[in-house]
Amino acid sequence: MSFDWTAIEQEAQKEINQAETAKGLEGLRIKYLGRHGLLAKATGSISTLTGEERPEFGKKVNILKNNLIRLLEEKTRYLKEQKAACACGLDWTLPGVIPQSGSLHPITQTIQELSSIFSKMGFIVVEGPEIETEENNFSGLNIPLEHPSRDAFDTFYLKPETRKGRFLLRSHTSPVQIRVMRKYRPPLAVIVPGKVYRPDAVDASHSFMFHQLEGFLVDDDVKFSDLKGILAVFVKKLFGEDTKMRFRPHFFPFTEPSAEVDISCIICKSNQKNKCSVCGGKGWLEILGCGMIHPNVFANVGYPRGKYTGFAFGMGVDRIAMLKYGINDIRLFYENDLRFLRQF
Ligand code: DAH
Repeated sequence: MSFDWTAIEQEAQKEINQAETAKGLEGLRIKYLGRHGLLAKATGSISTLTGEERPEFGKKVNILKNNLIRLLEEKTRYLKEQKAACACGLDWTLPGVIPQSGSLHPITQTIQELSSIFSKMGFIVVEGPEIETEENNFSGLNIPLEHPSRDAFDTFYLKPETRKGRFLLRSHTSPVQIRVMRKYRPPLAVIVPGKVYRPDAVDASHSFMFHQLEGFLVDDDVKFSDLKGILAVFVKKLFGEDTKMRFRPHFFPFTEPSAEVDISCIICKSNQKNKCSVCGGKGWLEILGCGMIHPNVFANVGYPRGKYTGFAFGMGVDRIAMLKYGINDIRLFYENDLRFLRQF
């Protein structure tokens, strides 16, 4: 008797694939592997073969037997799982759910980009609380009691007042300078990204909550030229190598001397100034405030007078994101409109 092993296996495989019930599978097992099944018959016919033919024949029978056992087991398991899935209401034939891949908010992306630039220059990232004391938000920073920024029109105060004084929603990230310097001695190179709050009427360029990134560096012999060098690298990395920078004298209570920094307009490149709506024809865009940390601030955190010098700077993250991505309305960041957010 001769057997076409491949054809038998293909036929069996087809039948097993088509079987839809455990009972049907059992029938197939009997047909092929049962006591009077096809393989048993094949094994029985071995006596008709010559001594040389027998080992090869036996091997073929065994391979087929093992393959059929495996196919039957797999199909049995599949049917069992399918039954369980149906019992719990799952329909495996439905098309799969395509996972929605989200993306980071443009403000988060901007903070990450800014942080990455400063991290590469050795700054560490520190975060502070959004609820602050008057001491950290104002007094420690040399902001006098009569300063207009302390007014309830410019700062959100929290109730009730406690023994330690009033609490408020921080109006800038500068109080983290005080927190860090009270805890650590120089050398320090720190950046602080985070949310800040001001009771401003909301419009295209104002929001009652927005983001700042503060930076400061304190050591034995820090000079204004160090500030200039760090900021020059920063603006070139962020806005491109051809970006120019200028310092305008300014006043901040916590720095002396102080300056505001402008960059050459990244939209009109300061060329077609008159037509540019972003720089308003000036050719320059203000991007941050900075200066050398005031000696009173060092005194307030308990550093010995005259021992350290340092610089600080602070920028609006939302404004930088708007410039970078060409967004003309800050409210878009906070309305959760997916048509806007999906573009980032
Ligand atoms: N805190 C300032 C603000 O909110 C920004 C600022 C200006 C921070 C100058 C600084 C600085 O560290 O040196 O307007």
